[in-house]
Amino acid sequence: MSDFTADWLDLREPVDSASRSTRLTRDVAAILPRYRAIDILDLGAGTGANVRYLAGKLPLPQRWMLVDRDERLLSRASKAWASRCLDLQHAVLDASLFSGRALVTASALLDLASEAWLQALVARCREAGAAVLFALTYDGRMDFAPAELEDEAMCELVNQHQRTDKGLGPAEGPAAVARASELFTAAGYYVEREASDWELTPESHELQRQLIAGWADAAVAHTRVPVNTAAANSRCINVPPSGTRAYPASPE
Ligand SMILES: C[S@@+](CC[C@H](N)C(=O)[O-])C[C@H]1O[C@@H](n2cnc3c(N)ncnc32)[C@H](O)[C@@H]1O
Repeated sequence: MSDFTADWLDLREPVDSASRSTRLTRDVAAILPRYRAIDILDLGAGTGANVRYLAGKLPLPQRWMLVDRDERLLSRASKAWASRCLDLQHAVLDASLFSGRALVTASALLDLASEAWLQALVARCREAGAAVLFALTYDGRMDFAPAELEDEAMCELVNQHQRTDKGLGPAEGPAAVARASELFTAAGYYVEREASDWELTPESHELQRQLIAGWADAAVAHTRVPVNTAAANSRCINVPPSGTRAYPASPE
């Protein structure tokens, strides 16, 4: 079980897909082996959005292994790909899961990870000699139009929440991209990053509504001063959908 619902992952998939770096995907595709099947490991695969995005852009043939701790989410992924219901705390200690993989990838996962987990991930990828591609990692930036007075304080509280333990140790949250880059570089990887900011338009009204409601809950959970929860929530939810743009920014 996880905190992520299939409905939420469905809602974000089109925006994720439009926001991802095509250049980094192309660069990774270019260094993968040709003329033989490539084995790919997708960590925190959910319902398979990362495979759906990448499969048509990477060399063929491919063999995927999707790993997630939530069986219900995995059961919605295509049966064309192998999957394992496994906690990533254990997965990252299992060298055999990584062995032989040409690519280790994840989308919308790294900000949930701790320093210790990232270190173990880097070690497993390095041992396997795998290329890596991590997409859509929240890096602490958000921006609203129209701006409101509380935006900055709200962002700080949300970012505090991002640093709490989500099951992989105290999360790196907004620092995850920078820390993962340092660790992979120290392990001898050539690292490239590119922004993959969400830019939410009125068409994604329901996504905006759920996102802002989630931020309001996270902010309320982290403030030390008494807060009128109803007011905080209603203020957030009342942001006019037609004017709201949010950028949970995600350098890959
Ligand atoms: C934000 S979702 C991203 C899912 C998918 N990669 C996507 O882009 O739609 C994060 C995923 O990581 C999984 N996850 C989080 N912590 C995990 C853990 N400790 N072990 C295994 N899976 C985990 C969740 O179940 C969820 O499917």
